[in-house]
Amino acid sequence: MTSSEIRATYLNFFQSKGHLIVPSAPLIAKNDPTLMFNNSGMAQFKDYFLGNAKPPSKRIADTQRCLRVSGKHNDLEDVGFDTYHNTMFEMLGNWSFGDYFKQEALSWGWELLTEVYKIPKDRIYVSVFGGDDKEKMTVDQEAFDIWKKILGSDERIIMGSKKDNFWEMGDVGPCGPCSEIHVDVRDEADIKKVPGKDLVNRDHPQVVEVWNIVFMQFERKADGSLVNLPEKHVDTGMGFERLCMVLQGKKSSYDTDVFQGTIGKLEEMSGKKYTKTTDPSTTAQNYTDVAMRVIADHIRAVSFAIADGQLPSNAKAGYVIRRILRRAIRYGYSYLDFRQPFMYKLVPLLALQFEHVFPELKAQADFVGRVVEEEEKSFLNTLTGGLSRLEKIFSESGTAAVISGKQAFELSDTYGFPLDLTALIAKENKFSVDEKGFEQELALQKERSRKDAVKESSDWVELGPVDGVEFLGYDHTEAPAQLVKYRIVNTKKGKEYQLVLDRTPFYAEMGGQAGDSGEISFGGDVVRINDTRKEAGLVIHISNDNKLEQVLVGLTEPVSVVATIDHVRRAAIENNHTATHLMLGALRTVLGNHVVQRGSYLNDELLRFDFSHFAKVTDEEIARIEDIVNEKIRQNIALVAYQNMPYKDALELGATATFGEKYGEFVRVIVFDPAFSIELCGGTHVSATGKIGLFKILSEGSVSAGVRRIEAVTAKQALAYVDDQIGLVKRVKELVKGQDLVKSVEVLLSEKAELLKKVETMEHHQVMELRNALLKKVSREDGLSSLAEVVTVPSSNALKQLTMELRKESDYVVLGAVIDNKPMIAVAVSDGVIKSHGLKAGDVVKEAAKEIGGTGGGQPSYAMGGGTRPEGLKAAVESARNFIEAKVAG
Ligand code: SER
Repeated sequence: MTSSEIRATYLNFFQSKGHLIVPSAPLIAKNDPTLMFNNSGMAQFKDYFLGNAKPPSKRIADTQRCLRVSGKHNDLEDVGFDTYHNTMFEMLGNWSFGDYFKQEALSWGWELLTEVYKIPKDRIYVSVFGGDDKEKMTVDQEAFDIWKKILGSDERIIMGSKKDNFWEMGDVGPCGPCSEIHVDVRDEADIKKVPGKDLVNRDHPQVVEVWNIVFMQFERKADGSLVNLPEKHVDTGMGFERLCMVLQGKKSSYDTDVFQGTIGKLEEMSGKKYTKTTDPSTTAQNYTDVAMRVIADHIRAVSFAIADGQLPSNAKAGYVIRRILRRAIRYGYSYLDFRQPFMYKLVPLLALQFEHVFPELKAQADFVGRVVEEEEKSFLNTLTGGLSRLEKIFSESGTAAVISGKQAFELSDTYGFPLDLTALIAKENKFSVDEKGFEQELALQKERSRKDAVKESSDWVELGPVDGVEFLGYDHTEAPAQLVKYRIVNTKKGKEYQLVLDRTPFYAEMGGQAGDSGEISFGGDVVRINDTRKEAGLVIHISNDNKLEQVLVGLTEPVSVVATIDHVRRAAIENNHTATHLMLGALRTVLGNHVVQRGSYLNDELLRFDFSHFAKVTDEEIARIEDIVNEKIRQNIALVAYQNMPYKDALELGATATFGEKYGEFVRVIVFDPAFSIELCGGTHVSATGKIGLFKILSEGSVSAGVRRIEAVTAKQALAYVDDQIGLVKRVKELVKGQDLVKSVEVLLSEKAELLKKVETMEHHQVMELRNALLKKVSREDGLSSLAEVVTVPSSNALKQLTMELRKESDYVVLGAVIDNKPMIAVAVSDGVIKSHGLKAGDVVKEAAKEIGGTGGGQPSYAMGGGTRPEGLKAAVESARNFIEAKVAG
């Protein structure tokens, strides 16, 4: 079976068992502060497990692209060295949300593997949770009994520890005991020597876990405790690449058709061979193989992350992507001898390979390739510098064999070497890295640029059940509601109160639209809400009002409140949101249909919009974009909003999906003139475009390769901007005292140019007169001519001219002068003396400038220095003379 057939077979099987097949969520986790990337198939369903939202079906199956490079699940270090870990991998999963449980989950798993995929039964082992004293949990007897019945005996059942058989998504969140299915793909002869059962969970590359079936029963709280979930669920995850390895009879997942295309291309590009070695020791061929595996793996992770909206950057998720990319580039550089960008050339191949399952890559292959190429170029610029710095550290460190924290930090700060890359190269050279020292350096730097408040996590206080939160804010600005849960979080700035209501008119920050502010009234007490955010399906109202301490204390059941948004601020936000839609329409009209959204943020003050486009937007284009938007505003087009349109219909209508966004079966569609702007959007908008009043673009610039950013303002802010510009013109007019501003400024500029010319001529005369006077002072001794004097000149330019004129007549010249109250020293040395005595003007100035409390430098023939102590000028000239004489004499 090809990998595509294997994937399709899985999905068909679970569809036949009543599962709804859904698309993969993007790699980047949204609205979940506990997670950067989707690290498992279940991550996108977290809200369903916690009971915060309702699933579209009680049975779901899919293939989810996952990334395990940070947090609780991190496989980065293993990738490339072994043959079965990946950074990005596909997880085939089937879920029951409060529907079937252990019996069906396990027997369907068995049926699929043995009857459909026809994996020999004697190659399969299963594990069951064996209990944990500390958590006060007993053996999963139910799972054990089910397996025993299915397998006919308990010979192939392994009792597992909490580490292997209790699955947790992160430090907090849904979790539960699990049962794993392992497959032994070794040759018969090896099996005879060591039974597979002894190798399960022992990191053996050919006795691998392929499927994990989790019985989600608990939620791990921030205080470490476990509480029962409202219902029992099933969460299964099968490693697609490993399954392909088993079914295609390979010993390594990199030998399957999932990776062979990319590896083949790497062979062709590098002229080196992939030989399927698996031993990560230090021979050249091993490293060639490791490099090819690393690159084949990393390019997938990076390409999909970019396609899903995460550009490489210097912080958070963006930095993780940059780190992965740099790790791969360095492998290519060191072991496959690539000196030019190469990774981007793999992108089109991946795009084709995944066209039918993850079309988002194909749709953006050009863009992704360009981003990767730019990243490669910029890292290749500093890579050699960093590698030679490392070489130097290796050769100079004596017996210590340690890279200090400071050195590792310098490598990261100056050469862009992420710590893990330094550690990896160190390891190859049998060095270690003082990671603690590095962290300290980093902490010092962070301390210097610290802005964000640190937040402690704390648990929710539940006052009543939450069954999704009803959003009323499309139609209402005020609504009665119930406070159903809250938590108090300590931040650096003080306490932050987070309130959850069962229904609310407050819009939580999403899709780039800023969260609402406003008030919540508890009868007599009214508290201010500063912001609204979304987390795990909940709308969280944020307040810093310490009155809440009193209001909340002792509450045990839901409380009635009235929630009122700041409608003036909301109206300003809506102006900017609708203007963003209109601007996207205008961008497409003016620049072309390749323009797609890459990022968006808007609040009550401005809108910021990032989009793909490969050239600067010219002033003329900006003017046209503004014109179109303002025309649409004047047309006062009424909003048409479809609250629940089937996704397919929306696309047919002409809406374009934003990459990296997850859409359900039904979507909200916002239309302002069906011929102009149709967007999938959950945000709030003006009822008619006329409300926006005016639209003005403030700036346009580049964010990264192929991505431009426009900032713009509307309504009051736009007017204020225009007023400001008019005010500016008025002030300048007053200053130049002329009605025709342009003409007046032109006259001023040409007058200035003329004056400058005059000044230059005068200075030149002055210099030549001085030169003639100084020439008489040139002394000649031992065949060398010299001059060292303090002089009076009007500018540093004149000082330079004078020195260079005198250089024609004297072997060396030292001149000191006070210019604009600052001491300066100029030194010139003739070519003859440079050659015969190795005398360099730069060295002389460096030495002499000490006397005037300054520094300086320049070329061997001419150098200049400045300082702060004019009284030292004479001594400086003397010091220069002495330095030169000593050098010439020596
Ligand atoms: N959540 C489990 C895992 O990631 C099963 O899907 O292994």
